Amino acid sequence: KKIGILGATGAVGLEGIEALLGHPWFEVGSLYASERSAGKTYGDACKLDIAHLPKEIIQREVREIVPGGDQQAVFSALPSAEAKKAEPQFARQVPVISTTSAFRYEDDVPVLITEINPEHAELLKVQQKARGWKGFIAPEPNCTTVGLAMSLKPIMDNFGVGRVVMCSYQAVSGAGHAAIELWGTQRKQEVPRPVSAEIIAEPPLLFDGNVIGYIADEEPKVKKEILKILGKYQKGAIVPASFPIDCFCVRVPVYEGHFEAVFVETVKSCSVEDVKAAYEQFNQVCKQKYGKLPSSPKKTVTIYDRTPQPRYDAEIDGGMSTIVGRIEEGAFGDKWLKYLVLSNNLKKGAAKGAVQVLEYLSTCGLL
Ligand SMILES: NC(=O)c1ccc[n+]([C@@H]2O[C@H](COP(=O)([O-])OP(=O)(O)OC[C@H]3O[C@@H](n4cnc5c(N)ncnc54)[C@H](OP(=O)(O)O)[C@@H]3O)[C@@H](O)[C@H]2O)c1
Repeated sequence: KKIGILGATGAVGLEGIEALLGHPWFEVGSLYASERSAGKTYGDACKLDIAHLPKEIIQREVREIVPGGDQQAVFSALPSAEAKKAEPQFARQVPVISTTSAFRYEDDVPVLITEINPEHAELLKVQQKARGWKGFIAPEPNCTTVGLAMSLKPIMDNFGVGRVVMCSYQAVSGAGHAAIELWGTQRKQEVPRPVSAEIIAEPPLLFDGNVIGYIADEEPKVKKEILKILGKYQKGAIVPASFPIDCFCVRVPVYEGHFEAVFVETVKSCSVEDVKAAYEQFNQVCKQKYGKLPSSPKKTVTIYDRTPQPRYDAEIDGGMSTIVGRIEEGAFGDKWLKYLVLSNNLKKGAAKGAVQVLEYLSTCGLL
């Protein structure tokens, strides 16, 4: 099946191409991007490092975002405002797997992670019927939500979740190709000293050697999506999970891999060993149920005693395994746990995770 890519010249679009190249079930269909890129070759339009791609892709012409083409499904990696317009136009004809937030919060739209809530895919049939589409829109969560959801699911199923506090340390690639380029121009750039009053009052965006403690819209997205993903599908609707959650989302000068510090209050008390056993059991179940999907990792969750580190660990199992390290008892009583998570924002958190969802949906006849 051919999969068209909306936003093919972006950071996630490029990962989408890579996830589909040599795929046993799917192939790269039409490449779409903005009118700045339309009509150019992919090689001329894409500003990212693409020297490793096959010549045929580099020379392929980028298309304007107009429905049509011979694809059987579309992978959308557009900015959300563009996705809001484009995704329904394509969904009238074919399934749209999206990494954007454009439709995540609508009642007839599930937010899918293969290993966590595949049963929510039933809602796609409700959506198709309600909207009269041949296709549907199936979004992936925000990339920060993915690591949190993957690490919480076995804890929730075994011990219940009372409260959650999370602080993220997010990679620059999570902000797209313009951010990656900007960071490149900032390497080793000095900030003039003394720092001027104008800069202190309104600091320009500086990724290099810096920590940025605010990412627009990120925290509300994480808090809303996690409850929807961990919710239950009942009678044609999703009933969200209901635990309180708070978070800070922070950008750090790392290329790839979102790192998170998580504090969880469980309903039942549990030891660190109990939690590790719950992750191992989750891995066994995932292996049985999803191990045959071409994009599934060997281990859904990789447990470390040390801290995960993006430069060394973001590519473990093709960037599809969620790495949980330093699982420790918290200081507020026997129901508190804390741990560190690393999840690849471009792979499991976006393109490859979306391709894994496509694979799952095709095994249940939805594609
Ligand atoms: N980066 C991540 O880690 C990550 C993870 C999960 C989800 N997401 C989501 O995935 C989406 C894509 O993210 P990204 O990081 O890949 O962004 P990006 O690098 O900025 O890429 C955006 C893509 O959309 C195209 N585009 C931009 N403006 C457009 C317009 N007005 N009309 C049509 N096409 C337009 C761009 O084409 P041109 O090159 O022609 O401008 C490019 O192909 C976003 O919604 C983001 O929130 C990102």
